[in-house]
Amino acid sequence: MTPFVVKPISRLQAKVPLPADKSIAHRAIILSAISAGVTKIEDFPFNKDCLATLNALRKLGVNITQGRKAMFLAAITVNGKGPFGLTKPKGPIFVGDSGTTLRILLGVLAAQPFETKLVAGKSLSHRPMRRVTEPLRLMGAQISSKIEDRKPKAEEYPPITIRGGNLKAISYRMPIASAQVKSAILLAGLFAKGETKVVEPLETRDHTERMLKLFKADVRQEDKAMVIKGGRELVSPGRLYIPQDISSAAFFMVLAAIIPDSKIVMKKVSLNPSRAGVIKVLKRMGANIKVKGHPSASLGTRGPRAKGCEPMGDIIARSSKLKGVVVKEEEIPSLIDELPVLMVAACFAKGKSAFKGIGELRVKETDRISSMTENLKKMGAVIKISKIGKLEKVIIEGAGFLKGARVKTFGDHRTAMSMVIAGLAARGETYIDDISCISKSFPGFISIINSFMR
Ligand code: S3P
Repeated sequence: MTPFVVKPISRLQAKVPLPADKSIAHRAIILSAISAGVTKIEDFPFNKDCLATLNALRKLGVNITQGRKAMFLAAITVNGKGPFGLTKPKGPIFVGDSGTTLRILLGVLAAQPFETKLVAGKSLSHRPMRRVTEPLRLMGAQISSKIEDRKPKAEEYPPITIRGGNLKAISYRMPIASAQVKSAILLAGLFAKGETKVVEPLETRDHTERMLKLFKADVRQEDKAMVIKGGRELVSPGRLYIPQDISSAAFFMVLAAIIPDSKIVMKKVSLNPSRAGVIKVLKRMGANIKVKGHPSASLGTRGPRAKGCEPMGDIIARSSKLKGVVVKEEEIPSLIDELPVLMVAACFAKGKSAFKGIGELRVKETDRISSMTENLKKMGAVIKISKIGKLEKVIIEGAGFLKGARVKTFGDHRTAMSMVIAGLAARGETYIDDISCISKSFPGFISIINSFMR
């Protein structure tokens, strides 16, 4: 494969169009499918991951139609089947490499009285699943998966076969901070007898809880637990608006900060506090980022009847003099997907940066600690990794610059986009081996980048 060549740019003034938020989109289409009524979702993102969820739901008998596509977005209409309207798929469902599709859908399938086999792509087939199969089994689902060895509690991997029905409520303390796992339990809890309680070790994104409330589920916060009452039928809000993706915006916030004479504007970006850690950390680094909250935060503006349940606003990011930063373990879930590009920012900062408790990065689409450190070291970065007990820490000695090099994406979209951002600000050209993985979340990314390099 011919490598993608990134040429450095010297200044940048742009308004960047972003895809709709991937995390919110998965939840929007799943809840629409199991609710009563028809839901029109404005601006559904047509990236590989969200399409994996859309196709899986179609295989489960849900009728979904789509409007005209523009910039990898289209309105879709989901004809809700109600809680028990899904039907047994004709064969295994392929979910590609979308971990969110697989893990969250398992929560719904745990309640369906038929068997479904979920098959994953190459990278997802190596990602851990015990974190989600364990609580769902406790609720009563029958699940089999690929097991590494015969030891008790051995890790599990896709393919996963699940048969559900007759769930009982549980009270569950999650050992790992994961919004995907929390969401699967809450969705299963929707179908269970009684009240299901989930306690997470650190606060993770709350898109599922917000969306459940919008669909009139009985869900509430009780001290540190999220509690859902089973047996309540979801009601569609009719029209739903999804704000733009903050994880995609993060690449451009960092880019604006590290290129001289830059200004990048992004509109109607999701500003959910449980996702916006990247803005807080970049501001601590000295980044010039202005956020203008949208007045009708949760209402969306694509029509008076389009509802949403997420705060959003406009982001204006400008060139900045960055300094090193310490990111604490408690902050990690609010910026887990933005860590690769924050590592790039740390290289361009002056002084030391430390990212603490980032072990979960090892089980993303690739081991992102290793992919990012290997690549950034090739570009001249000074990086140390340390581990105390289970807590992994990455320390970057920011020199204020990187130099072009030959780097690899390891098939991981966020490693790929982070290296493109690094390359645009580096001294000399950067060659990236294979950027096709970017379509997993942001199919329009490369054409935006090409417009900057023209
Ligand atoms: C996601 C949660 C995070 C994140 C992933 C999307 C979600 O994963 O990394 O990209 O939509 O719930 P974990 O829940 O495994 O931390």
